[in-house]
Amino acid sequence: MLMSLYSQLLVTGGSGFFGWALAKHAAKLYDTYFTYCQHRIKISGCQEYHLNLQDSEEIENVLEEIQPNIIIHTAALTNADVCEKRRSMAYDINVTSTTRLAELAEDLGAKFVYISTDLVFDGQQGNYRETDIPKPCNYYGETKLLGEKAVKETVSDYLIIRLSLMYGKSHGKSTCFTDWLRDGLEHQQPVKLYTDQFRTPLLVNDGVRSILKLLEQPVKGETFHLAGRERLNRYEFGKKFAKAFGYDDQYLQPVTMQEVEMSAQRGSDCSLNTQKIQNLLNVKLSDVDSGLRAMRQNGYLK
Ligand SMILES: NC(=O)c1ccc[n+]([C@@H]2O[C@H](COP(=O)([O-])OP(=O)(O)OC[C@H]3O[C@@H](n4cnc5c(N)ncnc54)[C@H](OP(=O)(O)O)[C@@H]3O)[C@@H](O)[C@H]2O)c1
Repeated sequence: MLMSLYSQLLVTGGSGFFGWALAKHAAKLYDTYFTYCQHRIKISGCQEYHLNLQDSEEIENVLEEIQPNIIIHTAALTNADVCEKRRSMAYDINVTSTTRLAELAEDLGAKFVYISTDLVFDGQQGNYRETDIPKPCNYYGETKLLGEKAVKETVSDYLIIRLSLMYGKSHGKSTCFTDWLRDGLEHQQPVKLYTDQFRTPLLVNDGVRSILKLLEQPVKGETFHLAGRERLNRYEFGKKFAKAFGYDDQYLQPVTMQEVEMSAQRGSDCSLNTQKIQNLLNVKLSDVDSGLRAMRQNGYLK
C-alpha cells in the first residue's frame, strides 16, 4: 500500500450520494475529511467541513487547514436540468471551483482524483472507451468535461474517473436513482422509466472499492471508465429492482425520452467500456442482478 494510514484524504461532496459512501469506506484506511454545503451530515471516523464551492476564499481556507495529500473531488451540481437552466451557476460550481481546487492541489503536491461522468459522451455510439472523443449533448456534461480539461492542464498527479449511473444505499438525505424508484413503488405511484436510454449502472460500493484500490496503484495522469458489467435501459433496471425487492412492477411505466419534458437532452447509449480499469485492478464489477442482491443482503430496505 503506497499512501494509506499516514495520508490525509479529503472528499469534497461527502454529503452527496457517492461522496458519503466513499468517505465512509475511506475512513478505514485514511485520516478522512469531507465537505458538505447545504446538507450537514456526520460520517463515523471522518471530520466534516462546510464548503461552498462558489466561495473561493472558503476553498482556500479549507485546504489550508486540512493540507490533504489526496483530494477526491465528487462535489458538483449534478442535476442536468438545473445545469441547463442555470448555466452560470453550473459553470461556477463545476468548472471554476474545480480549476481552483486543482491549482491548490498542485501547490500542496496532492493527488487529485476528479469524479466525472458517462454524460461527457453524446450517446450516439455506446460502449465508450477512454480513447473515444467526448462530445456532451447537455450543459452538465459540458461543464464536467471542462472540469476534466482544467484538471489535466493544472495538476501533475491526477486521475479522472468517469462513472456511470449509480445505484445503491444512500444516507437517506441525498437523492439517488434507486431511492427514487423505491419511493415511487412503495407509495404505489406511477414511475416513468425510459426504454430508449441505455447505461451501464454501477453499484456504488463497487465504485468506492475500485477507487480506493486505484489509489494503491502507482498510476497518475490517466482517465478511467468505471461502470457496471451490464448495459440496459432504465425500464429494464426498474423491472429487476422491483423483482429483487418484491414490489409490484405494474407501477413502472415504460416511456421514451421524447414523451417526458426535460430541459437537458440525454444521450441514448452512454454505456462505458471498463476493460482498462478491470485489467489494472483485477476487480469484478457487478451486473445488475448481483448488485441488487448485494443491496438486499446489506439491508437496503431496513
Ligand atoms: N449519481 C450518479 O449516478 C453519477 C453518475 C455519473 C457521475 N456522477 C458524478 O459523481 C459525483 C457525485 O455525484 P452524486 O450523485 O453523489 O451527487 P449528489 O448526490 O448530487 O451530491 C452532490 C454533492 O455536491 C455538493 N455540492 C453541490 N453544490 C455545491 C456547492 N455549491 N458547494 C459545495 N458543494 C456542493 C453537495 O453538497 P450539499 O448536498 O451538502 O449541498 C453534495 O455533497 C459528481 O461529480 C457527478 O458528476 C454521478
